[in-house]
Amino acid sequence: MEYIRTEIIEVHAKCPEPGLIERAARLIQGGEIVVFPTETVYGLGADAFQQTALERIFAAKGRPLSDPLIVHIADEHQLELLTINIPIEAKRLAWQFWPGPLTLILPRGSHVPHLVTAGLETVAVRMPRHPVALALIRASGSPIAAPSANRFMHISPTTAQHAYTDLAGKVPLILDSGPCEIGVESTVLDLCSDVPRILRPGGISLEALRTVLPDVQPPAQRNKVDEVEEDLAMKAPGQLLTHYAPSVPLLLFDGTIEEMHTSMLAEIGRRYVKGEQVGLLIAEEDIPKFQGTQACIYSAGSEKDLMQVAAHLFAGLRSLEEAHVQVILCRNFGEQGLGLAIRDRLLKAAGGKFRT
Ligand code: TXA
Ligand code: MG
Repeated sequence: MEYIRTEIIEVHAKCPEPGLIERAARLIQGGEIVVFPTETVYGLGADAFQQTALERIFAAKGRPLSDPLIVHIADEHQLELLTINIPIEAKRLAWQFWPGPLTLILPRGSHVPHLVTAGLETVAVRMPRHPVALALIRASGSPIAAPSANRFMHISPTTAQHAYTDLAGKVPLILDSGPCEIGVESTVLDLCSDVPRILRPGGISLEALRTVLPDVQPPAQRNKVDEVEEDLAMKAPGQLLTHYAPSVPLLLFDGTIEEMHTSMLAEIGRRYVKGEQVGLLIAEEDIPKFQGTQACIYSAGSEKDLMQVAAHLFAGLRSLEEAHVQVILCRNFGEQGLGLAIRDRLLKAAGGKFRT
């Protein structure tokens, strides 16, 4: 792939400068790709209706064409360009959660390029709430297709620097508005199956969705790798258990807090004997347990504040990778609220297996 100079420009997160947004929008209109912030993670955007621009997304990320993209809109009228027969459930959810971290799987409109949907008869749509994302979509005058701005199989970027690390030389422009507020990707909700089902837990919790649609189903059980993998690969092609792979092996521990601490300390001991450097991704409350060890500790925040943990999760994994540890040990944060999304990302990073 041809090397291009990557420029990073700082854009005010709350009141984006119109001149800077114009510059980015002109690139999008010209069929280029641009990295931009959303409230979840940074996205790699292109005009959803330009074939060559879409191809650039896949080339820059090294992403297979079988993995469909989310289309980002700034206005509900843009739904009409993308979908047909909008279900009433979609309208109710959009009313409650848009703009915000919820992606809806809807029937595909006939003009949506196959590259966006990977040939599926459905399309993923979301209205982000980040002012820079909204301004960029409006100024571009077209919905923007955007995956997370990481190279394929790597952790999603929650800062412009993360995106630069993965995509420097492959994108002309990165808009930098500081760290993302939520830190995990949007919840992907399938409204095209018999009952609405979460395909990927994310920024909007199962509990919150159920206040609008009480029959929303949680994601299919993911730890039985073989049973569901094939089915899932067809329904949600980007949702394979190995999707978010840090470049360092990650072990995810489960059980009560005491059980997790005991098993993690034992693992640190075993690794220490082998001369390995261990990284720990834990909560503030766990720190005293591990302070006497040689491990490299990253605290994601208080276990009582999962918003904080989610916001620091990916930065934590990246910083431990960069510390050149040989293995990352991580605790489970439960399944309530954002816990489900945190657990999902960590389980994927751990290759689908818990340690007890
Ligand atoms: O928060 C987010 O959703 C971020 C920001 C940039 O908006 N985007 C993001 O995109 O995470 P990406 O491409 O990394 O993940 C989108 C996932 C895909 O992996 C795929 O599984 C699912 O959305 N998806 C997209 N279109 C789909 C469809 N038609 N049916 C089922 N799943 C779909
Ligand atoms: Mg992604």
